[in-house]
Amino acid sequence: QFHLKPEPMKLASDGPLGKFDRAQLQRGFQVYKEVCAACHSLKYVSFYQLSDLGYSEAEVKAIANQWAIEVPTVNPDTGEAATRKALVSDRFPSPYANETAARAANNNALPPDLSLITEARDGGANYVHSLLTGYRDPKTYRNEKGEALPAANQPGTGLHFNPWFANLNIAMPAPLVSDGQVTFADGTKPTVEQMSRDVAAFLVWTAEPNLEARHRTGWTVMIFLLIATILAYMAYRNIWANAK
Ligand code: HEM
Repeated sequence: QFHLKPEPMKLASDGPLGKFDRAQLQRGFQVYKEVCAACHSLKYVSFYQLSDLGYSEAEVKAIANQWAIEVPTVNPDTGEAATRKALVSDRFPSPYANETAARAANNNALPPDLSLITEARDGGANYVHSLLTGYRDPKTYRNEKGEALPAANQPGTGLHFNPWFANLNIAMPAPLVSDGQVTFADGTKPTVEQMSRDVAAFLVWTAEPNLEARHRTGWTVMIFLLIATILAYMAYRNIWANAK
């Protein structure tokens, strides 16, 4: 009775007529790049896809070059894994060499790949937005019945209380904690609320970059079926017009 359902939030991509708000997706990408990418990969998204968000070819190349891809050789001088700059054909890599390294850096929890997270979790973007804005002080928290969090549910070491997370205590520390953590290129005020909303919108796009084409196809099919039905009805009237 402490776990909360995601708060509904409106996005431009909602509903059968929904389209992405490109400016919002760019802001969301900026939040991902500057905050979330420190721990989370987007292994199903390639850098070249960013041109969908309205970035030019040169901008996409420059963005890709800010990431490093590990290559399967070892630097002979240092013994460390060698890396190269990411190309536009690469996908957003994990910042960790492997799962062991990822867990070691995160109190044994594994930051999941975020490409499909808005599909994987009930509530989708609403969940991501609620989770990011949902960190509360476990000592003073009261649920809607006014009950305090029982001792058994208090967060252990390295865990953080968040009533929107299924087991209430999450290994991810609040990633968006202060207004102005990123500076938006379009001048939008970067409040925690705004950054959470924008990154949630961006994660809808990573999970379904073809959403707009799907919506368009849906409408084309519906209109075609409507016309076909009208024609079929008219043909029926015509064929049987002289029958007694
Ligand atoms: C888990 C989003 C930044 C570490 C998650 C989950 C989401 C998420 C949606 C999945 C929760 C679930 O399983 O239902 C984000 C976003 C970020 C961000 C949008 C940027 C705004 C970070 C950062 C770190 C981090 C910077 C590392 C310091 C983790 C870890 C988990 C996690 C360790 C697994 C938690 C657990 O299973 O207890 N994150 N994250 N995240 N994230 Fe992040």
